[in-house]
Amino acid sequence: MKNVAIFASGSGTNAENIVRYFSKSETIKVAVVLSNNRNVGVHARVNKLGVPSFVFSREEFADGAPVLAKLSAASDVYKRQDLIVLAGFMNKISDPLLNAYPGKIINIHPALLPKYGGKGMYGIHVHKAVVAAGERETGITIHYIDEHYDEGTVIFQAKCPVLPSDTPEEVAAKVHALEYAHYPKVIEDLLAARI
Ligand code: GAR
Repeated sequence: MKNVAIFASGSGTNAENIVRYFSKSETIKVAVVLSNNRNVGVHARVNKLGVPSFVFSREEFADGAPVLAKLSAASDVYKRQDLIVLAGFMNKISDPLLNAYPGKIINIHPALLPKYGGKGMYGIHVHKAVVAAGERETGITIHYIDEHYDEGTVIFQAKCPVLPSDTPEEVAAKVHALEYAHYPKVIEDLLAARI
């Protein structure tokens, strides 16, 4: 059984979708969800599906050791997670985590990187910028995490049209649909070393 940990900061619809996708899997299990926020939807979403979730403080995240200990404790194989999946996680990953899991941390960004990435570009802010620029298409990017924001090697992208009449909320809905359709499959393929 391969173990996956999800990091999420907010509502957690992607986290829930990933947990549901693997709930019957015999090879992949979402072992734990970690968050920097206590009062956000992701906890209830995954807890009701039987996945534990924990909150870490800013200090614990920067230190790394308490977060790494949670990841180890939640793994039933070799005390390691096979993949760390960021799903709406709004902090930059700290160096201790990057060093402990090199090449094993992936993120989903709600735009076609390198466009609309970087500091301040998260969630609805991305879609507002896309609409304001009059873009005719946007999409999702799944990429490895490195020490720079939104700059790691791209694993997968998918596109959707943006209509002149679309609001940022309508663009967000289209992008979320792409995320739900593709993120679990990309995780599955990565863990099976198919990509
Ligand atoms: C998702 O659209 C994700 O791509 C985005 O936040 C949303 C979280 O939604 N992530 C970023 O903007 C990271 N820079 P969710 O909490 O419902 O899964």
